[in-house]
Amino acid sequence: MNVIVVPDYEQMSLHAAETVAAEIRARTRTVLGLPTGNTPKGMYRELVRMHQAGELDFSGVVTFNIDEYWGLSPEHPMSFAYYMRTHLVERVNIPAGQANWPVASGDQAAACRDYEERITAAGGLDLVVLGIGGNGHIGFNEPGTSFDTRTHVVRLAEETRLANCRGYGFRDLDDVPEFAISMGIATIMGARKVLLLASGREKAAAVAGAVQGPVTEELPASILQRHPDVTLIVDEQAAFALSPREA
Ligand code: PGA
Repeated sequence: MNVIVVPDYEQMSLHAAETVAAEIRARTRTVLGLPTGNTPKGMYRELVRMHQAGELDFSGVVTFNIDEYWGLSPEHPMSFAYYMRTHLVERVNIPAGQANWPVASGDQAAACRDYEERITAAGGLDLVVLGIGGNGHIGFNEPGTSFDTRTHVVRLAEETRLANCRGYGFRDLDDVPEFAISMGIATIMGARKVLLLASGREKAAAVAGAVQGPVTEELPASILQRHPDVTLIVDEQAAFALSPREA
């Protein structure tokens, strides 16, 4: 794993945007798996700035959101589809039809199959960008998820619902959906390149476990130790618990 420690959130965001931009410039068509949440907001801001400055063309970019709350429509302001449209898709020149998010209602098995088929039809993921949960989840793959999973419907861990309630502006816990649809661990591991971002002391234990702990389904991000091309960009707070060898 390539671990890059930067001073703060701003530097993490700029470095992440540069990494994504390099992938986009490297080929005429780039398929991205993209996260939502608070961590990548600065990265999206910088990608939009690059586009507006004429430095980055998104016409060949295909995006796949990593996850979505089950039961929220793409128009719902708390949905991750809405997040991706407002933070990136509507602010750059990604052509209509090249931004994807999972269907999050109706037949669950069909929705999961459909998402895997769309990713495969796009040629697979060139780069997947991930945040990490305080409990070590990637996407909404909570501790205990089998490493073999592909896109699946998950019951959210209580600590995830609490963190989302506080961090994303839900009015109260009852408003946070109990289920989500998420790319699985095997879907994420199938990406040709992985970039994981982490900022803040509350991520430090999960980052240390992912980088230096045993590979275990109890800490889903630890599986990334087995991926051949992973970069972590973490700020000093999130790197706090790494042993000096990595930090
Ligand atoms: P965050 O979420 O970026 O809002 O901290 C990350 C995650 O839970 O995967």
